Amino acid sequence: MPLTKTETALSQPIIQLIEVSKTYSTHGVQALNEISLTIEPGEVVAFMGESGCGKSTLLNIMGGIDRIDTGTIRLLGQEITHSTDAQLTELRREKLGFVFQFFNLLSTLTVAENVALPLELAGRDSAETVFKKVATLLSQVDLSERAHFYPAQLSGGQMQRVAIARALVHEPQIVLADEPTGNLDSKNGQRILKLLTNYCHKHQQTLLIATHSRAAAHYADRVIQMRDGRIESIDPSNTPTGTFA
Ligand SMILES: Nc1ncnc2c1ncn2[C@@H]1O[C@H](COP(=O)(O)OP(=O)(O)OP(=O)(O)O)[C@@H](O)[C@H]1O
Ligand SMILES: [Mg+2]
Repeated sequence: MPLTKTETALSQPIIQLIEVSKTYSTHGVQALNEISLTIEPGEVVAFMGESGCGKSTLLNIMGGIDRIDTGTIRLLGQEITHSTDAQLTELRREKLGFVFQFFNLLSTLTVAENVALPLELAGRDSAETVFKKVATLLSQVDLSERAHFYPAQLSGGQMQRVAIARALVHEPQIVLADEPTGNLDSKNGQRILKLLTNYCHKHQQTLLIATHSRAAAHYADRVIQMRDGRIESIDPSNTPTGTFA
């Protein structure tokens, strides 16, 4: 029996890179060197490797933040290699969620207002729906009681949980997290990894994490080890896909 349209869409990789290279023109550093990689929908992938090996650059080009010199990138079945800035902005806003090392919260907005931002930018939901979605996410990251606090009134772990709620609130298909635990102690770091991976597994979202944390390997379906702008090895992690206690 032929596959239905939905099944065909589901069986396609969510991200595909073919011989992607990138050199930063400022100092002629080749950050990515002919990287080919396929990521399936719903996968949790950890990118590891020493400082400067190209993890952030790789995440940025997969998130449409940065551009490549040569090669091909397909995201959600669509080639984005030659997309315009406006098309990439739209793609990021609709389909992607980002979590960064330094949280990147807006200091003049409350916790709830920070989380509401992606929905406000999309401009599709009524005020009541935005309120409900924000309340749901804040409850899931265990911060309902901090909704009216400002970022400066939170701990690092709390700030990162707000950033996670903000990255997830518009139900992105792909979540990119660059060193999400880099600014946290190991206990809070583990909590953040567990929260992100469990949430993305449950909602079948694809999660890409660049990290130095060995613990991340435990939470990922695959660990991609990088060195000098290349993929050195790809290992399935020891843990089967599922929910972590
Ligand atoms: N804007 C830039 N201009 C010039 N070179 C850059 C720029 N950003 C990164 N690089 C270089 O590209 C290489 C890869 O950097 P990248 O930030 O991707 O590494 P990383 O693996 O994320 O490192 P870290 O673990 O320290 O975050 C490095 O050699 C770096 O010096
Ligand atoms: Mg980095």
